[in-house]
Amino acid sequence: MRTIEDLDVAGKRVFVRADLNVPLDGDRITDDGRIRASLPTITALRERNARVIIGAHLGRPKGKVDPAYSLKPVAARLGELLGTEVRFASDTAGESAQAISRELADGEVALVENLRFEPGETSKDDAERGEFADRLAALAELYVGDGFGAVHRKHASVYDLPKRLPHAAGGLVLAEVNVLRKLTESPQRPYVVVLGGSKVSDKLGVIDNLLNTADRILIGGGMAYTFLAAQGYEVGASLLERDQIDTVKGYLRRAEERGVELVLPVDVVAAEKFAADAAHDVVDVREIPADRMGLDIGPASAELFASKLADAATVFWNGPMGVFEMEPYAKGTRSVAQALADSSAFTVVGGGDSAAAVRALGFDEKAFSHISTGGGASLEYLEGKTLPGIAALEE
Ligand code: 3PG
Repeated sequence: MRTIEDLDVAGKRVFVRADLNVPLDGDRITDDGRIRASLPTITALRERNARVIIGAHLGRPKGKVDPAYSLKPVAARLGELLGTEVRFASDTAGESAQAISRELADGEVALVENLRFEPGETSKDDAERGEFADRLAALAELYVGDGFGAVHRKHASVYDLPKRLPHAAGGLVLAEVNVLRKLTESPQRPYVVVLGGSKVSDKLGVIDNLLNTADRILIGGGMAYTFLAAQGYEVGASLLERDQIDTVKGYLRRAEERGVELVLPVDVVAAEKFAADAAHDVVDVREIPADRMGLDIGPASAELFASKLADAATVFWNGPMGVFEMEPYAKGTRSVAQALADSSAFTVVGGGDSAAAVRALGFDEKAFSHISTGGGASLEYLEGKTLPGIAALEE
């Protein structure tokens, strides 16, 4: 992939596709990790006198203008972090974006409105996406792909736009790909993977592939209950994907055949209902009451997982161990994060919820070798899939 050093950016309008999809509470940004991760590429371009026009998405507004998904608060935060004004276009490629793109001076930065306000951004129809990509292309002379969190999406700004402009990969995309390549091609062993999050159905492809590459897989979070059910345990009112039990049984068999150690929780925090103030107790996985739901792994599981991480040389972690947003169910996630922070292994935290958890629980990001900005993107990379946004940058 070409890097931004390969582009002659001075005095040129450079469209940067970033991933600024941050969690919001009203218009308050609750975790600005993705904005911070985008700063180095923007700064490098400014220092080389580029005129930087950033495009990004926020949430899934489904091709319609919806003020709840406006990127305006993101423009303000980006400006604060850059220490400069970020001009905000009230549309994606219309009059406002065109005027700002014409007026931008060398080293200045602008952000256009949420690209997903346009049906063409996410359309499955090549022509419709192409039409929107043409309009975006008219805003700039060069393209930099730096939105790692969205490279698995075949969207106009990710896939079609780089075909229309001379392009390069930004520093964030390069850094993320380097780390993930290490995990897939030459992980130091033991290579231990920790998977959590609510649904096993979101992780089928990656588990499939990890059964070929990992030495040990620890399973927590909501998805653990489908594994426990596949082993014959009663999981009460816990999250359970019945239709995945057979698939999971297949994984358990394959893990055994291949000598991959699959580690499941031995105890859980079982609560009366999905609420922070619900009555809850630690119970053995063999004794989950029929009317209770597991909302975190228990202390014995946390200890077991930490012991299984102790000798790791490489760790990849994706997905919380429980409902970490509610304090009574945050201990399991906190203890896995602590085990990674204490480890001398090459530790990679997959994006999305686990990256947010690490920050929300107050861990120093420097305690981990790499915190990815891409949840879905890093999983699809580890699945071995071709990511449209990377493929387009490689052309
Ligand atoms: C993410 O949040 O993982 C990325 O920004 C991609 O968002 P999406 O899953 O809505 O495409």
